[in-house]
Amino acid sequence: MSKSQIRSIKGTQDILPGETEKWQRLEQMVRSTMDTYNYKEIRTPVFEKTELFNRGVGNQTDIVSKEMYSWTDQGGENLTLKPELTAPVSRAYIQHNLGSKQPLTKLYYIDALFRRERPQKGRYRQFHQFGVEAFGSENPEIDSEIIAIAVSIFKQLDIKDLRLKINSIGSDVCRANFKEELKIFLKPHFDSLSETSKVRFNKNPLRILDSKSEEEIKLMQNAPSISDYWTPDDKAHFTELCNFLDAMGIKFEIDHNLVRGLDYYSRTTFEILSSSLGAQDALCGGGRYDGLVEMIGGKPTPGIGFAAGIERILLASAQEFDENKIKLYIVGLGEKVRVKVVELAELLRENHIPCDYDMLRRSMKAQLREANKMRANYAIIIGENELEKSQIELKDLTTGDQQKVAMESILSHLKSLSF
Ligand code: HAM
Repeated sequence: MSKSQIRSIKGTQDILPGETEKWQRLEQMVRSTMDTYNYKEIRTPVFEKTELFNRGVGNQTDIVSKEMYSWTDQGGENLTLKPELTAPVSRAYIQHNLGSKQPLTKLYYIDALFRRERPQKGRYRQFHQFGVEAFGSENPEIDSEIIAIAVSIFKQLDIKDLRLKINSIGSDVCRANFKEELKIFLKPHFDSLSETSKVRFNKNPLRILDSKSEEEIKLMQNAPSISDYWTPDDKAHFTELCNFLDAMGIKFEIDHNLVRGLDYYSRTTFEILSSSLGAQDALCGGGRYDGLVEMIGGKPTPGIGFAAGIERILLASAQEFDENKIKLYIVGLGEKVRVKVVELAELLRENHIPCDYDMLRRSMKAQLREANKMRANYAIIIGENELEKSQIELKDLTTGDQQKVAMESILSHLKSLSF
């Protein structure tokens, strides 16, 4: 009886050869950009104590209230697969006292995250982000640097139709006052609000500002603006950030309704959107979280960062990522040459010449077809005749030219070629 097939979990994806090359290119580019800006990589565990996200990200957020993969383990601990990285990186920053080594600690990551969202194009249950977190400075220079890193990466990827939106949701005092005013404004419209917004009205009315419902978007156009509640310091901070961005030639739109969905934000928030993505149009999002480190048990420390969704970037990226090519394919013909082929392949590989050969014992035609399929530059052909004469045929697969090369000089000959 045939066994039933086991398939991957909904909202997760296998990244197959052909795709993995794109991921590698993107990751290499991210790493080299991070080096340029002097950010160091951090890697944190796949799971954390659930309490970290309850306290750090906030119980009222969508992520914590309905999207986390959480369980109680055999020892009775409540654990969660990480749904985001700002809280885990902040936890590591506190735990390893990184601030004592560097007054401004600049970190980056490339990692997998887990959220039980409704899967659709650009939205998955396991997805990947790269991102940065910088701890220790309240000054807007760091805000501008963080935004510049994101912009720089998207530029290198040649992603068109980008929009950078920025806002400041002010300090704690500002937000407390603003929330009250917002509730006063919304109260007469309460009955017409969506169920989600009704819940948010009590728990976090700020989130109604980034409602996706058309009616609510219209309604919020007349809502009070957070900028009217900024303290003088909030205003100065935001103005300075805008000046820095102008100086760097970074174009942005100010959107006072950009509040973002995580509770830890204060002051600067930003998002980069691409119109080519459809509903899930945010390529990256971030902001300042000056209260987070203290909220999860550290000394008061300002922080700011962003994270970008890798799947969405690859969907939006127009750039052709070159496939890795295998440089050489060894075509062996006949039983007697098998040992020679194995020996030669290993010699080439030891000398860092990427090559492959046929292990399915196919015909010459099939082997050459395989070489072309791999987009190899050259084929080395060895038949029993060649073996006797201790030579090989080297075929340039682009031009079709063929030449004989003595076996003992193959390596030096290949090294003289530019692939
Ligand atoms: P976030 O807005 O939740 O922020 O996620 C950042 C980015 O991750 C999104 O803009 C999107 O590109 C991608 N993303 C989020 N959820 C999914 C999903 N289900 N499927 C595919 N891609 C997704 C954060 O995670 C914050 N920790 C960012 C941050 C860092 N703020 C300060 N520092």
